[in-house]
Amino acid sequence: MALPSSPAPSTAPNIIQGGMGIGVSSWSLARRVAQRGEIGIVSGTGIDSVVVRELQEGDPHDRCTVLADYPDKGIAGHLVDRFYRPDGMPADEPYDLLNMHPFEPSVRSQRILAAATYTEVRLAKKGHEGTIGMNLLAKLKRYTLPCIYGALLADIDIVSIGAGIPLEEARQIPKLAAGEPAALRLDVDTSQAPDPDDSYAYRFDPADVLDAPPALDRPLFLPIVSSDALARIMDAKLPDEHVDGWVVEGPVAGGHNAPPRNKNYAADGTPLYDERDEADLEAIRALGKPFYLAGGHGSPEGLRAAHEAGAAGIQVGSLFSLAKESGYPPSTTRRLIRGLHNGEIEVSTEGRVSSTGFPFKVLTVDGTLADAEVYDRRARVCDLGYLREPYLDEEGRLMGRCPAEPVKTYVSRGGDRDETEGRACLCNALMANIGCGQQRGDRTEPFLFTGGDALEDLPLGSAEDPQYDADDVLDYLYRGVRDPHVSSSSRQPQSAD
Ligand SMILES: Cc1cc2nc3c(=O)[nH]c(=O)nc-3n(C[C@H](O)[C@H](O)[C@H](O)COP(=O)(O)O)c2cc1C
Repeated sequence: MALPSSPAPSTAPNIIQGGMGIGVSSWSLARRVAQRGEIGIVSGTGIDSVVVRELQEGDPHDRCTVLADYPDKGIAGHLVDRFYRPDGMPADEPYDLLNMHPFEPSVRSQRILAAATYTEVRLAKKGHEGTIGMNLLAKLKRYTLPCIYGALLADIDIVSIGAGIPLEEARQIPKLAAGEPAALRLDVDTSQAPDPDDSYAYRFDPADVLDAPPALDRPLFLPIVSSDALARIMDAKLPDEHVDGWVVEGPVAGGHNAPPRNKNYAADGTPLYDERDEADLEAIRALGKPFYLAGGHGSPEGLRAAHEAGAAGIQVGSLFSLAKESGYPPSTTRRLIRGLHNGEIEVSTEGRVSSTGFPFKVLTVDGTLADAEVYDRRARVCDLGYLREPYLDEEGRLMGRCPAEPVKTYVSRGGDRDETEGRACLCNALMANIGCGQQRGDRTEPFLFTGGDALEDLPLGSAEDPQYDADDVLDYLYRGVRDPHVSSSSRQPQSAD
């Protein structure tokens, strides 16, 4: 597939349905968007845990069938034998967990992650010729390479990476496609180690997954950047063919946001953005690659304005996150849509809640971690560990710690107590959001929802009828503009199931 080289509204695709972790931009959402001729992006974040929890729930998406086609038969068989429970599991039983993915790579963890990613991408690509991408977070280095490899084996079209500067990632994608070993440098806290090395890296070798790794098609690479400066740095440092376009995301977008460039925060940790956080689109355009605008552009006006600014289109997340096909259970989308229409839910930009240190948009929903009482009641547990950061312990071992883990543990691992303040366990909360919350005694892990500022004026659904689907989102975005993929007023997908 190719991205449009001109911003004319009639060229495809105009809309990227943004990657939303954990599991919100599910394969079914991405698939529907791709069937309509736009770009559907699945999320690779936490996908290994999503898959093993689904297998324990009786495999509602029939991943076992997909795994049967996976070329690494050994690990596919292991996943099914170890986790699949044909009759599901009792509601009060905790999920069996994967071993935490270590910083010193474990080949088994890598193979599991690659296989899990493969299932998500295969499901998203099933039965159509549309375009499917996969999203990852640059901050989460140790998951990136196995995840991309699993996606490559499933013939992924696009990789998009945000939350950091994915310079090295851009260089590793072609290596993985060629079946060669790849590595990403780790930023390790070595302050406790007597004799640290100069550099640490996370390594992945496709030959650990397949005896003879084939040459695979290189997917397009779309970095998600918050500023023209970042895009210019990447453009200057990378060979031209490593980047195929940009997603330029502003601070009103759902999920994580870039920290304010002026480094200004209110006393309660709320980031204070100003005009310096607006990317110079002329400078982006001058780089000569297609770009999409994200963050508050999810409207017909937003699409038109993007085209007028020279963009190829828009990336939209928040509106899609509440569509029927998203990874949220229907009871959740209904509750959120109703609450937003009734003005009971607001969007707040929280500077401290995410262990990544990046601001994170939080929906102020009662009964979730956004509620101080619920936050205080939750006993800190860290058993998924996606946001752990690497450090060397006193014996020189490469370990991980997360400021949302129990405070004592974090401090005993050399972390700064102040860092723990206000942090929430996004791993467990985001798993809970998609119906995979861990059971702890008589409690289930609490939710914490995210969404962009634009949700406060939600244009779809209503308090009385709190539902809509991906087609509704696309029809809305194309209101007043001709959808180039729909020949009549009917909602025929570009390619049938
Ligand atoms: C629920 C939710 C989760 C998100 N998770 C991610 C993510 O994991 N990675 C990412 O790059 N962007 C993430 N985003 C951002 C979207 O991909 C998209 O760029 C953004 O939502 C666009 O702006 P909008 O929120 O105004 O539509 C998330 C957004 C939402 C609403």
